[in-house]
Amino acid sequence: MKKYLILLIASTLLSLTRAGAAEMTKEPDSAYIFAYASLKNGGRNGLHFAWSIDRKKWHAIGPEYSYVRCDYGTWGAQKRMLTPFLFYGPDSLWHAVWSVNETDGVVVHVTSKDLVYWRRQSYPILMQKENCLLPALSFDKEHGKFIVEWKSTNGGADATYYRSSTLDFKNYTPPERVAKATFDNRHTIRLENGEENGTVHKVSWNVIKGLLHAQQQAAYEQELWSEKTAEDGIRFASLKPIDVEVQIDMENKKKISDLLMGVFFEDINYAADGGLYAELVQNRDFEYRLSDKKGSDTSWHSYKAWSLKGGKGTFKIDSVSPLHPNNAHYAILNIEKAGTALVNAGFDGIPLKAGERYNVSLFARNPQEKARALLIRLADEHGKLLGEARIRAIKGNWRKYKATISVKADAAKASLEIIPQEAGEIALDMISLFPEKTFKGRKNGLRADLAQTIADLHPRFVRFPGGCVAHGDGLGNMYRWQNTIGPLEARVPQRNLWNYHQTAGLGYFEYFQFCEDIGAEPVPVVPAGVPCQNSSTGGAGQQGGVPMAEMEAYIQEVLDLIEYANGDTHTVWGKKRAEAGHPKPFNLKYIGIGNEDLISDIFEERFTMIFNRVREKHPEITVIGTVGPSFEGTDYTEGWLIANKLQVPMVDEHYYQSPGWFIHNQAYYDKYDRSKAKVYLGEYAAHLPGRPSNLETALAEAIHLTSLERNGDVVSMASYAPLLAKEDHTQWKPDLIYFNNTEVKPTVGYFVQQIYGQHAGDIYLPTQIRLSNTEEAVKKRLAISVVRDTKSGDAIVKIVNLLPVSTRVALNLEPLGNISTDALKISLAGNPEDEALRPKSTPIAVTKNFKDELPAYSFTVLRFKIVE
Ligand code: AHR
Repeated sequence: MKKYLILLIASTLLSLTRAGAAEMTKEPDSAYIFAYASLKNGGRNGLHFAWSIDRKKWHAIGPEYSYVRCDYGTWGAQKRMLTPFLFYGPDSLWHAVWSVNETDGVVVHVTSKDLVYWRRQSYPILMQKENCLLPALSFDKEHGKFIVEWKSTNGGADATYYRSSTLDFKNYTPPERVAKATFDNRHTIRLENGEENGTVHKVSWNVIKGLLHAQQQAAYEQELWSEKTAEDGIRFASLKPIDVEVQIDMENKKKISDLLMGVFFEDINYAADGGLYAELVQNRDFEYRLSDKKGSDTSWHSYKAWSLKGGKGTFKIDSVSPLHPNNAHYAILNIEKAGTALVNAGFDGIPLKAGERYNVSLFARNPQEKARALLIRLADEHGKLLGEARIRAIKGNWRKYKATISVKADAAKASLEIIPQEAGEIALDMISLFPEKTFKGRKNGLRADLAQTIADLHPRFVRFPGGCVAHGDGLGNMYRWQNTIGPLEARVPQRNLWNYHQTAGLGYFEYFQFCEDIGAEPVPVVPAGVPCQNSSTGGAGQQGGVPMAEMEAYIQEVLDLIEYANGDTHTVWGKKRAEAGHPKPFNLKYIGIGNEDLISDIFEERFTMIFNRVREKHPEITVIGTVGPSFEGTDYTEGWLIANKLQVPMVDEHYYQSPGWFIHNQAYYDKYDRSKAKVYLGEYAAHLPGRPSNLETALAEAIHLTSLERNGDVVSMASYAPLLAKEDHTQWKPDLIYFNNTEVKPTVGYFVQQIYGQHAGDIYLPTQIRLSNTEEAVKKRLAISVVRDTKSGDAIVKIVNLLPVSTRVALNLEPLGNISTDALKISLAGNPEDEALRPKSTPIAVTKNFKDELPAYSFTVLRFKIVE
């Protein structure tokens, strides 16, 4: 790729030279750059450059390539770069400042050595109540300080100018009023696409070469990474079946992680409530809030999913003397005579199975002297009775009542009816219905078919509870593990950042228990003291962090989690675990701190504090740091710098990329420094336009997994994301497993994950491969990985063919020594756009010189024993 890139850049520079032939005869020593941001896309397109030899004719690079974008505030509304000002400081750094919007008293400051790589941004609040417009920067040599100047319109048209000085761009002097702007030397320049305003600097020609190179490299990569199978007819027009000879190199075998394949569970797409969590009643706690959906749905409130049916009566929500302060709302039902029902519609209806038993529980308060009774009915969508039970002798203050209902017939959309048997008032809360058959029969358990589908992946670990759900939408929305344990009525429900409601019924105890039930390592992720970079609850609309005064308590909370998982039953938190029914420790070994956070000073300060304390108190725990949401860029680089500085043992990388990216980045981890942190690839998936999950995306992921196995000495764990999505409630596509109330629909990508999970190894056996066609495009679409699983003694060969032709594979298995001839062959093949494929498994015989023809667009696995 490098060779092509150099050629491409050389030819671009040549054509640029030709374009400016009148002005350039040889490479100049210096030229001018113009730094600007356009107002397109609301000012969200970032910093652009143009260059000129004579300051008259300007060449826009890209023409609007973005070298740095603004990270301030929420997506959609913010992330704007307005009126950037570029300044070259006496510290030999380029400094850029810009304003973020028309209202906030904030400017952004960021530096770069070469104008290409930009370090982390800071968002100093320079004005408390007024805006900061047209910021400009200078250096006061006499006092050795940087001076920032800006204009403020005080919410009106009258402009006032201010200045502030700083030594370090962290601390600023209070704003001082000045008569006018003194060093705002912005210029208006005519470019090909119109006029823009920005700053002009004279720079060495090498700086411009660097800018051009970065843009050309990005353009070239974009071209490669957007390759799709849809163009294979042209790309591989005359391609014939390929012969592949594979030689196993036993000399260079290496130990790889035995935890590579795992899952990442996040409550996104109704994955928890209405999904994996087997509760069938929606809004059981009457705690739905308009704010769960930021007011976008006026029907989303305490009454959601509840209604009154038949007879005369009222149903209202109250909050006086609630069941528990964490659960402030409950229902009051007041009926005139028996026959009126409080009805819950479930999550798109309540699915029921004939012959199965369902456990009802509820809390009730009866303000009357006389004991009351409730009839609980399950009825299908036509009102037909499917089963019922009675709760008698409801008396006095809040108490929990239970009943079991046997169901007579299947129903996809049943409802639950609570029918008071006497007139008058009764208060109800935490109205719950669970199938008796949850996964492993757990109380407050998981939906059996979904949980089993996850278990069938044979995941070695489960990362939970998110994702963005873990760090939350603003400080108040961070996922606090302590709020999710203990009696259900005492847990703290909260807004789910994906715009719905979290009951916390599936909480930390249930996550740990699920991990244990499927033999997976628990990998909880706690916030690094900062919420999601796209939340706006910190200072002046930016992310913010846990106040320093509260950090000690926050760190303690993280340490308490380790005690909850591992402490003995005499410890405060170990005792709580025992009370929940699990006296034995959960044997926690990993903890994630942070989720793809913005790597800011606020983050670093808090992450460092938490990390140091966990390492000091629990050296036995592997802490997983975070390096942003991408495989490159500022958060990635800065995150790795922090990890290296603190010697964080493992970092969590995330990337959602095109199949082309996976095809052309198979060497991504080959270059990783083995002496640094290990990698947990916590979130990845192949994304095509329209976001399908098909054979093309699945094979791209399978190719990537061969390179993860090859790099299993540095990549310790990997999990596809997201895992679950409920049909019609999906915020993110593609996902690994789709489901509705009655069906589970694994994707093709699921089967790739399953095959890797069920056929993992702990020793990697390198291979030499000879192809009959050595074109780059062909080579990159054939990927092979051979591993050995020490426990079973099996060798496993995985071959991915993302070509439109078959491959005739000749495998020399001689170096493996004696092998059993009985083998298992698993094959997943079809058309790239196929979304409903399943792998086929067949027993076959292998010989030491094994030959097979593998179909176009296929993933094949061979598994056999090495006889020692
Ligand atoms: O997997 C979906 C989301 O992608 C996760 O919540 C977040 O970490 C990432 O941006």
